[in-house]
Amino acid sequence: MKYFGVVGSILIWFLVFVSFVEVNKGQIPTTLDGPFKPVTVPLDQSFRGHAVDLPDTDSRVQRTVEGFEPEQISVSLSATYDSIWVSWITGEYQIGDNIKPLDPSKVGSVVQYGKDKSSLRRKAIGQSVIYNQLYPFEGLQNYTSGIIHHVQLTGLKPDTLYYYRCGDPSIPAMSTIYHFKTMPISSPKSYPKRIAIVGDLGLTYNTTSTISHLTGNNPDLVLLVGDVTYANLYLTNGTGSDCYSCSFPDTPIHETYQPRWDYWGSRWCPKFPSWCWRGTMR
Ligand SMILES: *[C@@H]1O[C@H](CO)[C@@H](O)[C@H](O)[C@H]1NC(C)=O
Ligand SMILES: *[C@@H]1O[C@H](CO)[C@@H](O)[C@H](O)[C@H]1NC(C)=O
Ligand SMILES: *[C@@H]1O[C@H](CO)[C@@H](O)[C@H](O)[C@H]1NC(C)=O
Repeated sequence: MKYFGVVGSILIWFLVFVSFVEVNKGQIPTTLDGPFKPVTVPLDQSFRGHAVDLPDTDSRVQRTVEGFEPEQISVSLSATYDSIWVSWITGEYQIGDNIKPLDPSKVGSVVQYGKDKSSLRRKAIGQSVIYNQLYPFEGLQNYTSGIIHHVQLTGLKPDTLYYYRCGDPSIPAMSTIYHFKTMPISSPKSYPKRIAIVGDLGLTYNTTSTISHLTGNNPDLVLLVGDVTYANLYLTNGTGSDCYSCSFPDTPIHETYQPRWDYWGSRWCPKFPSWCWRGTMR
């Protein structure tokens, strides 16, 4: 969509700044090389209005797992270094008439983990939920999600590399083994060396290069501030517009096309494992 939200200009500012430094110094300095004078680079207005959403048919948004294999696996920070959350999705979303929600109790939420890749001895169990988006208006399509799993790992050591896999071992449907690194103990001298902040990523022809650029700079921590995709610029039948109110002035309620959310995570992650499976933390 030709659309930039609130944080769009910040994102572009960030990217421009990054390329400027790269060209001039060969690499981005860390905060440890500072302090630096803040640099402001004006927004290049020619970027505005040229980000076009990937269509449903693009190979980059196709589903890559089968049955109840985990997908959209991500790792998120907790409030303290000794805990992280692992989240993922199993099963397919449904959209249309007479949809039947999946039963979240049918698929377990298990993370097996440990410091030794060849023996993941520790196990954590979590919860799973689904959500529905139902429209009581004729002609609008209802949506029900895949099963969303959340598992909290606790008692972790600081600044330590852990290996993990997630899923339901009884099906069996487990992921392959990924890894993350916990945060150091907070102190004036210990913090991630590189923090990437990104927002308004969308799901456009340009998102690939933005993510590649970000991961290419090897961040220790990624802060995803939101607006990852614009499901709210679509009708429930999948028809989108750059301006919802201009194109669809007569809809009985502001519709959304929820599968765009699923495309963003599940169908994007396999192409960028370093982004999704190192997750928001590595
Ligand atoms: C969607 O769900 C609502 C609420 O249950 C129901 O009234 C409506 O008929 C459903 N629509 C379709 C297309 O199945
Ligand atoms: C965005 O993607 C389009 C299509 O691939 C490309 O033509 C354009 O140059 C990209 N824009 C930026 C700012 O990289
Ligand atoms: C979706 O609904 C809109 C508005 O009713 C209509 O113009 C459009 O053709 C529909 N698209 C599809 C793919 O059915």
